[in-house]
Amino acid sequence: MVKICCIGASYVGGPTMAVIALKCPSIEVAVVDISVPRINAWNSYQLPIYEPGLDAVVKQCRGKNLFFSTDVEKHVREADIVFVSVNTPTKTTRGLGAGKAADLTYWESAARMIADVSKSDKIVVEKSTVPVKTTEAIEKILTHNSKGIKFQILSNPEFLAEGTAIQDLFNPDRVLIGGRETPEGNKAVQALKDVYAHWVPEDRILTTNLWSAELSKLAVNAFLAQRISSVNAMSALCEATGADVTQVSYAVSKDTRIGPKFLNASVGFGRSCFQKDILNLVYICECNGLLEVAEYWKQVIKINEYQKNRFANRVVSSMFNTVSNKKIAILGFAFKKDTGDTRETPAIDVCKGLLGDKARLSIFDPQVTVDQIQRDLTMKKFDWDHPLHLQPISPTTVKQVTCVWDAYEATKDAHGICILTEWDEFKNLDFKRIYDNMQKPAFVFDGRNIVNVDQLREIGFIVYSIGKPLDAWLKDMPAVA
Ligand code: NAI
Repeated sequence: MVKICCIGASYVGGPTMAVIALKCPSIEVAVVDISVPRINAWNSYQLPIYEPGLDAVVKQCRGKNLFFSTDVEKHVREADIVFVSVNTPTKTTRGLGAGKAADLTYWESAARMIADVSKSDKIVVEKSTVPVKTTEAIEKILTHNSKGIKFQILSNPEFLAEGTAIQDLFNPDRVLIGGRETPEGNKAVQALKDVYAHWVPEDRILTTNLWSAELSKLAVNAFLAQRISSVNAMSALCEATGADVTQVSYAVSKDTRIGPKFLNASVGFGRSCFQKDILNLVYICECNGLLEVAEYWKQVIKINEYQKNRFANRVVSSMFNTVSNKKIAILGFAFKKDTGDTRETPAIDVCKGLLGDKARLSIFDPQVTVDQIQRDLTMKKFDWDHPLHLQPISPTTVKQVTCVWDAYEATKDAHGICILTEWDEFKNLDFKRIYDNMQKPAFVFDGRNIVNVDQLREIGFIVYSIGKPLDAWLKDMPAVA
């Protein structure tokens, strides 16, 4: 029986390995992590991450050929294939590349541990998103410490999206495997191909050299984020000119050369990877002297920052230029619907912007806990991607913030509502009931374009919806830049 071990039991390691276990009953899969609470949760009824469909997959395999454990060394030692899916955050501390380069501390320590505990040859698979040529560094660590054991390193970046991870893993657009172009490298690539071939059609399993695989992952995230920044940049122009960004992006999407996906204007992109991977790309470009290319990709992040600031400024300027002591309901805190992940969510920046103007916030998200929200609002930028158990938990809480478990409670007596995540349940709220219980004038700021603007205006709300024609009230307020 082939044995697989995956180091890192989070959004990538957990679902990916659960699906491998489901699709390959002949393979034994162990998912390991240094976080005891996280592994305990994987072994309980309350999984540590929310992902539609994940519960059912885990239930089917756990205890049969899928195991979650903190005994990292034992499972690495016994495995034929070791996936490494640890965090690769942006480097926060001072030093070379701080604020841009990927911090490979977690990866390096995993590689050293693999070399230390291994007693048989292994294929080591880079699942984390890493800078180009990381495999080369990892290979050096493994071979210099190998005591004669042979390691083949592969790059197998993950393209799943949170919220649709199980669907994406069941039916991937492609599986990408990069390896050394040597007989041993080819053999290792084939071994990993054989795993995916249990359910992925062969023509969707692409093989490349190591660097192409690593760079492809950064390129995909950069291209996706760039589409969002492009439509968001358009949304600002639509508001200034009276065009409707929904109509513009629909017209654009009908061009078969462009296609319909990732063209919704919003308050900005979040997601754990977009910003960090683009910063990483920028750093690699700079290191290679490609300053114009670096500048081009930097702009994608700048527009995203601009969009988040523009939204917060719009809220303040619409409400007589102050939200001091006003209650603002925040509907949605996760970076997208169907996940509880808040890493780099635009909600953090918008909330911090409003708190900076002394607003009182009442926050409701169906999947994000009070602790998580408080931690996010007190944490420094970039710290979100370091494992929680390795950080001191901030003892401070933001007093002007309350978290509630119901949209109606959040909006009661509020002056304004900010919709920051596109949860389906927000589309079907009883806005008449909400309006009746709010302070007047009552404002809705829709950062995801999910409400029916005309209906809400009819009820009496003053509505701002990203990239849509402004109503008279908003036109009369100071311009937002
Ligand atoms: P995460 O950052 O949520 O968690 C990483 C896990 O690794 C933590 O549970 C941590 O305790 C564990 N860990 C760190 N060092 C360890 C060690 N030495 N031994 C055992 N466990 C260790 O990770 P997430 O979101 O699953 O991402 C993993 C990688 O996959 C990152 O490089 C990310 O960029 C990439 N990725 C993430 C996607 C996402 O949607 N979250 C999608 C595609 C790629």
